[in-house]
Amino acid sequence: MANTVLIGAQWGDEGKGKVIDLMTEQHAWIIRYQGGHNAGHTVEIGGERYVLHLLPSGILHEGKKCVIGHGVVVDMEALLTEIEDVTKRGISVEGRFFLSDRAHLIFPYHRFLDENREGKAVGRDRIGTTKRGIGPSYADKAARTGLRAGDIREADFPERLRRRVRDYNRQLKTLGATLVDEDELVREYVAAAERLAPYIADTLVLVNRAADAGEAILFEGAQGTMLDIDYGTYPYVTSSSATAGGACTGGGLAPNRIDRVIGVIKAYTTRVGEGPFPTELEGEEGEALRKAGNEFGATTGRPRRCGWFDNVIARYSAMVNGVDHWALTKLDVLDDVDTIQICVAYDCGGRIMDTVPGAVRDLEQCKPVYESFEGWKTSTTGVKRFEELPDRAQAYIARLEALTGVPVYLVSVGPGRERSLIREEVLKSHGRAV
Ligand code: IMP
Repeated sequence: MANTVLIGAQWGDEGKGKVIDLMTEQHAWIIRYQGGHNAGHTVEIGGERYVLHLLPSGILHEGKKCVIGHGVVVDMEALLTEIEDVTKRGISVEGRFFLSDRAHLIFPYHRFLDENREGKAVGRDRIGTTKRGIGPSYADKAARTGLRAGDIREADFPERLRRRVRDYNRQLKTLGATLVDEDELVREYVAAAERLAPYIADTLVLVNRAADAGEAILFEGAQGTMLDIDYGTYPYVTSSSATAGGACTGGGLAPNRIDRVIGVIKAYTTRVGEGPFPTELEGEEGEALRKAGNEFGATTGRPRRCGWFDNVIARYSAMVNGVDHWALTKLDVLDDVDTIQICVAYDCGGRIMDTVPGAVRDLEQCKPVYESFEGWKTSTTGVKRFEELPDRAQAYIARLEALTGVPVYLVSVGPGRERSLIREEVLKSHGRAV
């Protein structure tokens, strides 16, 4: 089976958790490669609901090996809590969960700085972060001052942590932010380090040996393409590489060993946090989508901004990620909509564009140009096979395929595993064949 990268093609929250869960069956290893506990994957198995922020969702499958790669930033407390939670629910992680020794860590001072900045920022300066300390931890990584998971095994870890705390406290003080209690933090994190140490490994070696042995590897992306630090709507992005390339730099497998890229795309669009969103629906229409799709953040509980499917973004995502196949999620949310719209281009002050402009200020000026579809107005939640979908729903999907140039291999019509219409023949074809 192929080495697969699975990414979110919009602004995150595309329903990747469920698709990853289904894909897991065909892979031996599941790797998280970027982001941190800002992510939240919701998976329903046998009526039980799991929300995972850091652990790859493969952990819910017995025998699967799971890795947090070096592109991830890790809050040790959050990770330990998650390990404890799944263990309590009867899932053992022992011997099959590994944390990269190169992964950078998040400490409370990162969180305090994130909270302070977001709390004080007004207008365009607000990013709407999850306030988990993600940005400051990646900033330390780039500044080469960060502490990595491998460091917690070293004798000088407490001293290095103290130095970082003092540095940050000086910064936090000038900002009037909450200061860190140095002794308490060091005590707490030395204890956490002891508990986490057994999971730390050189995951680069593990992943490459697994690939050498022909074991299939699944890289699970968090967030989405439009939140990627390079490809997204900068500065309204997260601080990591959420696109397919991130799987190589943050997961540890070279590009020529990746066999396919699956893009997860929702039948409409959502976004949490600030930043431009050309197809956003305000008022009743947006509220109706939010309600029908239960669009509230898995991590922060924030209501998500909702809007129509944006094909300019879908095509852009297909291009930058090299998407071979789409998994189209939440089609059922459109079951009751009278007229469905797809944004096929942007009107930027009279100039018609079919690509995403690099400057966020330009994107802010873009107005969507829509193509309208009559809704199918039938419940799709009980549908078992793709061919049984209402004709208009099939026409909607065919149009998305034609517009993006990428075939849809999976259509999701509800949260449970069984609510997935899989077109095996599409998955077998080598993508981009429409
Ligand atoms: P940060 O990742 O907490 O720094 O937040 C930066 C931006 O990414 C904000 O707009 C967040 O709302 C957004 N974001 C971060 N993680 C997720 C996610 O898992 N889903 C959707 N949006 C996210």
